[in-house]
Amino acid sequence: MSTSPAPGAPRAFGPETLIEPLCGPLAGEARVPGDKSISHRAVIFAAMAEGTSRLTGVLDSQDVRSSIGAVHALGAAPDLAVQPDGSLAGTVTGWGAAGPRQPAGPIDCGNSGTTARLLMGVVAPWPVTVELTGDESLQRRPMRRITAPLMKMGARFEPAGRETLPLTETGSAALRAIDYDAPMASAQLKTAVLLAGVFAHGTTTLREPAPSRNHTELMLPEFGVPTTAAARLASVTGPAAMTAADVTVPGDPSSAAFPVCAALMRPGSRLTVENVSLAPARTGFVRTLERMGADIAVRHEGQEGKEPRGAIDVAYTPVLRGCEVPAQHIASLVDEVPVLALVAARARGVTVFKDVSELRVKETDRLAAIIEGLALLGVEAWEDGDDLCVEGDPALEVPAGLVFDSRGDHRLAMTWALVGLTGQVPVTVRDFGCVAVSYPNFLDDMERLAK
Ligand code: S3P
Repeated sequence: MSTSPAPGAPRAFGPETLIEPLCGPLAGEARVPGDKSISHRAVIFAAMAEGTSRLTGVLDSQDVRSSIGAVHALGAAPDLAVQPDGSLAGTVTGWGAAGPRQPAGPIDCGNSGTTARLLMGVVAPWPVTVELTGDESLQRRPMRRITAPLMKMGARFEPAGRETLPLTETGSAALRAIDYDAPMASAQLKTAVLLAGVFAHGTTTLREPAPSRNHTELMLPEFGVPTTAAARLASVTGPAAMTAADVTVPGDPSSAAFPVCAALMRPGSRLTVENVSLAPARTGFVRTLERMGADIAVRHEGQEGKEPRGAIDVAYTPVLRGCEVPAQHIASLVDEVPVLALVAARARGVTVFKDVSELRVKETDRLAAIIEGLALLGVEAWEDGDDLCVEGDPALEVPAGLVFDSRGDHRLAMTWALVGLTGQVPVTVRDFGCVAVSYPNFLDDMERLAK
């Protein structure tokens, strides 16, 4: 693989990082790095395709590098270099109709659930045996949700009955199409099944209980594979041929949520985040903030491939009100619940996030971690069955000397950092370096926006 190192390597962080208040309100124009979900898909789909794809705007982060390393081990040839803006751009030559090669050893997916789960679908239709593993956090995350449908299609996983990585998958050249009712709204599950379905025999259909992000349904046709997509349903007919494509990755709305929420909480702020994916299945956090009374608006500016793209305008809003976030909307903001819970902690009244059980199986148990972190702030938050309730306090004052534990989870590290960045007193965040999973230059970007 050729993936050159970053010219301005991201800052290194020790076990504890002191996060100081920003020197002023957030103002001006912000750009965030490329979308993580779209970057994984661009790299993986290009690896599966025949020919050479050109990718630009790819997120350079640990998670995406896990996908790049994995497809290289499976026989694709990525040639991506760091650009002056910190993104990755270049080419990926795929294995195409020849299929992936037998890798020399286990594939380490690091912290990346998306890499591990999508690869399971990628490997399923080919006669190779691949051991997938990951870091401590990834080895605790449930994989049965992916292995169950893929086994129905004809793939094998060993040891049999094991729920977590490491797992060894053996694909089958005679993969069967399936009609599958997904037990949860998960884009990783949907994508794994659809990717297997591209090379299975017949039409593979997946129905989901609520709409999860649809980047796969939008991007597969760019690689020559038609998909049928309706509300809560996606299907693909195989065996199909995947052909190289050009993909430009827009900015990541999940990363944008941090400067957006910081601006809402820091008096005097007025900010525009440019060039982000405005896929409705990703912008549930904007709709929730609108319902809380936030001064926020999106501007659609066109498309990147089939992905809607545009800007988010936001300004400090002194009074926010709590709201109920229905279960059907959770998938559209699933990665933003930690930072939304922090905003809710300053709102008037109770905010209820309905059925957030999926948070228990993210990079860490985010449900427990949110409640623990808000308790440090003196904010009451509790579980009610699978719901998360946060009792807001508009007059919240942050005590001095708080130490938050990120639990090695990038989104928690950035959420707790916002307490220090937008407040009057510094806070300490343990293991802040995990931001490198999705947003390596988060702290520099936030500091640059303070005027
Ligand atoms: C992702 C889907 C989401 C999200 C994750 C990335 C994807 O998980 O939390 O960060 O790229 O498909 P689910 O599979 O649970 O929806």
